[in-house]
Amino acid sequence: MSVHGADKPITIPDLRRMKGTPQVWLTAYTTPMAQRLDQHCDVLLVGDSLGMVLYGLPSTLAVTLEMMIAHGAAVMRGARRACVVVDMPFGTYQKSPKQAFKNAARVLAETGCAAVKLEGGTEMAGTISFLTKRGIPVCGHVGLMPQSVNVAGGFRATGRTEDEAAKVMQDAHAVAEAGAFAVVVEGTLDSVASAITRKIAIPTIGIGASAECDGQVLVIDDVLGTFNEFTPRFVKRYANLGEQISAAVAQYAEEVRARAFPTDAHVFKRRG
Ligand code: KIV
Repeated sequence: MSVHGADKPITIPDLRRMKGTPQVWLTAYTTPMAQRLDQHCDVLLVGDSLGMVLYGLPSTLAVTLEMMIAHGAAVMRGARRACVVVDMPFGTYQKSPKQAFKNAARVLAETGCAAVKLEGGTEMAGTISFLTKRGIPVCGHVGLMPQSVNVAGGFRATGRTEDEAAKVMQDAHAVAEAGAFAVVVEGTLDSVASAITRKIAIPTIGIGASAECDGQVLVIDDVLGTFNEFTPRFVKRYANLGEQISAAVAQYAEEVRARAFPTDAHVFKRRG
């Protein structure tokens, strides 16, 4: 089932209506990648994972609003049909609903994206409600929350104990009730993520969660095999471009050293 025409830009209400229909989400951080992914995806997520994937940071904690705005604007320049959602980085929304509004409004105004995503459940419900009532669509993010890596003591999956399962369920409910249009459920036991999907009225987007989530999201560099630092169990690699890049660069280096590149075909010669 498709709720939108093939070329018509996908809107936030379209995504809400797609509850029960598989939604394809992928991260994108640059214009050329957005151009490639656009026709295949419902949502391009400018994730703060860019801090680890593009900038070599050990976590997402040092990502700034300026970085997210620059990459959000780049992705918007490559997107025609897919809906673009930009992550709010750590420290730009947790202090108060007013702080969140000021920074999320900047993200929307300076990138042209459709919505923001922020991490947190019950504790962020007031902020989500504040933003959505003031014209800022919000996607929630519950379960494993990478911005809380220091509290959790690492990137570990959740929902294995009854308390953890109840907490993720409560968080997803709170986010949905607060007005989020969708919620990313990350690193959460399959049965818990599927129960959440059945119980809440908004689409759930799984990553390391459940095949029963309404949609799935992955980090594009994991999908393509260009990020090798750390590959979580839930990643499926659809290509090994990292190896292809290494082989191409090795051949280039060899040819330059052997003076086999450039050839006459690659240089400008005087005509006649
Ligand atoms: O930052 C990110 O890329 C994300 C997705 C992995 C959901 O939040």
